[in-house]
Amino acid sequence: MDFAARLAETARLTDAALAEALAGLAAEGRVPATLLAATEHALLGGGKRFRPFLVIEATILCDGPADAAIAVGAAFECVHAYSLVHDDLPAMDDDDMRRGRPTVHKAYDEATAILVGDGLQALAFEIVTAPPVPIDAAGPLARLLAAAAGFQGMVGGQHRDLNAAGLDADGIRLMQGMKTGALIRAAAEAGAIVAGAPEEARRRLAEFGALIGEAFQLADDLLDIEGTAEETGKRVNKDAEGGKATLAALLGPEAARVRLGETVARASEILAPFGARADVLREACRFVAERRS
Ligand code: IPE
Ligand code: IPE
Ligand code: MG
Ligand code: MG
Ligand code: MG
Repeated sequence: MDFAARLAETARLTDAALAEALAGLAAEGRVPATLLAATEHALLGGGKRFRPFLVIEATILCDGPADAAIAVGAAFECVHAYSLVHDDLPAMDDDDMRRGRPTVHKAYDEATAILVGDGLQALAFEIVTAPPVPIDAAGPLARLLAAAAGFQGMVGGQHRDLNAAGLDADGIRLMQGMKTGALIRAAAEAGAIVAGAPEEARRRLAEFGALIGEAFQLADDLLDIEGTAEETGKRVNKDAEGGKATLAALLGPEAARVRLGETVARASEILAPFGARADVLREACRFVAERRS
């Protein structure tokens, strides 16, 4: 199966896992219907599912159980979806379109969007600590996900992003490594934990994830400059208009593209000890460098 087919398969499996989680919440009978509908809006109906892809492929690479990988991938997607819902709020990037549809606070309201994000974050930890995730892996995975999502990861990075005017290249790298890189790094590392892989494999996958995460945000910033709303499903030129510090703006698109190529090349090299079995992750590097959405 080639990369595109495996990414599509990840999306199918992740959507099914998320739909099942939502059905479980609906079956509780206590969750307000509007909150459920808004959560479904945030979770289903689009998204590349790149973080679940990393969890699943890293797990397969380390010979771990697929059912647990799908659940852990879904948990990562819950944190990611929460980060997007909050990122789009008027107090943050103030965006009206996401994944080709109105953002959650536009389709519903701000208070609902805040609560959708809060609920999704909690749901992620419920999923990651329940069967079929192996009991021995649940604690380490919860800790990994918490650190990637929290103050020292995405949340801290998002705060840096809000106060990023005038940052130099190192400052931007730190900010982006936290706001986007941390969760992507953890997604790759999580595969090793699900599989109970040796420390060396875990370290290597984490390093790979950090680099591909850095590249992922670099590509996002380039798409904001060079892409279209039709391709990306979100407003473009918003970084320049919002005065956001990005490497693409600081270095210029051409130099940023060179850096993007170098970063994914380094990510690929780190996979060398895994041999041909890591080919699909190498293809993921190319996907990140070339993506238009
Ligand atoms: C967008 O993430 C926000 C960033 C962290 C760059 P994605 O590009 O993965 O968005 P979806 O999930 O495919 O919509
Ligand atoms: C978002 O970065 C990173 C998150 C943690 C959500 P951006 O603000 O550049 O993401 P988009 O362009 O709105 O998807
Ligand atoms: Mg933002
Ligand atoms: Mg944004
Ligand atoms: Mg962006």
